[in-house]
Formats: sequence, structure tokens, C-alpha cells
Amino acid sequence: MDSADLGKDLTEVLIDEASIDAKIRELAAAVDADYADKDLLLVGVLKGALMVMADFSRALTSPVEMDWMAVSSYGAGTKSSGVVRILKDLDRDITGRHVLVVEDILDSGLTLSWLLRNLRSRGPASVEVLTFMRKPDALKVQVEPRYVGFDIPNEFVVGYGLDYAEKYRNLRVVGTLAPHVYS
Ligand code: PRP
Repeated sequence: MDSADLGKDLTEVLIDEASIDAKIRELAAAVDADYADKDLLLVGVLKGALMVMADFSRALTSPVEMDWMAVSSYGAGTKSSGVVRILKDLDRDITGRHVLVVEDILDSGLTLSWLLRNLRSRGPASVEVLTFMRKPDALKVQVEPRYVGFDIPNEFVVGYGLDYAEKYRNLRVVGTLAPHVYS
């Protein structure tokens, strides 16, 4: 879905398609280099990471494995509560594996912080995080992703996997939603 199709729904495009493409290639090159001699397992966090995972994994040069988790924060709305429940767990044992968690956005950090504790308790060889976007001003807990695509302002953004009421995930760009869409 092109941003042009949105009419007045977006107030601003924060990250356009060309910038997404370039950043994905840059991240993939870094991961390729860092894991050159390792067997890598990518863990995508549904549903937001879908687009990042699809593009990033295809930009890698090695045949990685992929798995998915779905988690849900208690307390609806646009902010996480930090209390997380697993809706779909990994299909495999990660003991001794090199795991790279792939996220679309690091907001308060509560989801990832919980997820990292959970994954590390399973005895992996390593767990690192790649997040396509991060909101430094929204961070409530210390989470240090090894790979960060873009630092963005603390605004509600949609597109490239991120939704508002489950819509706009299929937007090719990342942008801010116009206030009239909420009301
Ligand atoms: C988003 C995003 C992260 C989390 C980040 O997922 O994909 O997993 O929120 O927020 P936090 O840093 O404040 O914890 P969301 O719960 O909206 O689910 P979705 O990916 O299915 O849209």
C-alpha cells in the first residue's frame, strides 16, 4: 500500500521506502558479518515484526532459521503494561542456539525486557535484539538492542508492520497518523 493511497490519513511520512530499503540492507550486512561463522535463529515477534522479518531475512546471505512468538501485553490501548502473556511460543528448543530477536519497534521496552528474560532462561548460546525502530524518549526499562534501524520521536506511528486498530500494517512507509483517524 502506497502512502499516496492514504489520502489525508497520514500527517507525515517519517521513513520512506528508499530509506527502509537502505537501512534493511545495512542491518543485514552487519548481521551477516557478526554471525559469519554461526548458525543463526531469527525470532520474529508477531505481528508487527512481519515486514521487517520478511525484508531483513531476505537481505541476509546465509540460510538462517526463522521462528515466531506472539505475545500480548495486558491492558489494551497504545501503551504496553509490562505484563506479558505468550499467545504463541517458539516451535523449537533454543538451547545452545544463537538467537536474534527481530522487532519492529522498541517503545517502552517492557515487552522486550520480559521477552529477553524469558528467552535467556531457556539456555541459548546468545540472545541479541534487532529492532527496526526505537523511541529513545519512551524507554522505561533498560534494553540494549545490538542493532537499531532508526531512532524516532515519541509519536504514534503506523506502517511497515505497525498498526492502528490492526490497520495500516501494509503501508510501505512509516508515518504519523492524522488525529482525525482516532476520533
Ligand atoms: C508492539 C511492538 C513491540 C511492542 C513494543 O507490539 O511490535 O512488540 O509493541 O512496545 P514496548 O516497547 O512498549 O513494550 P504490539 O503489542 O502493539 O503488538 P503487534 O506487534 O501485534 O502490533
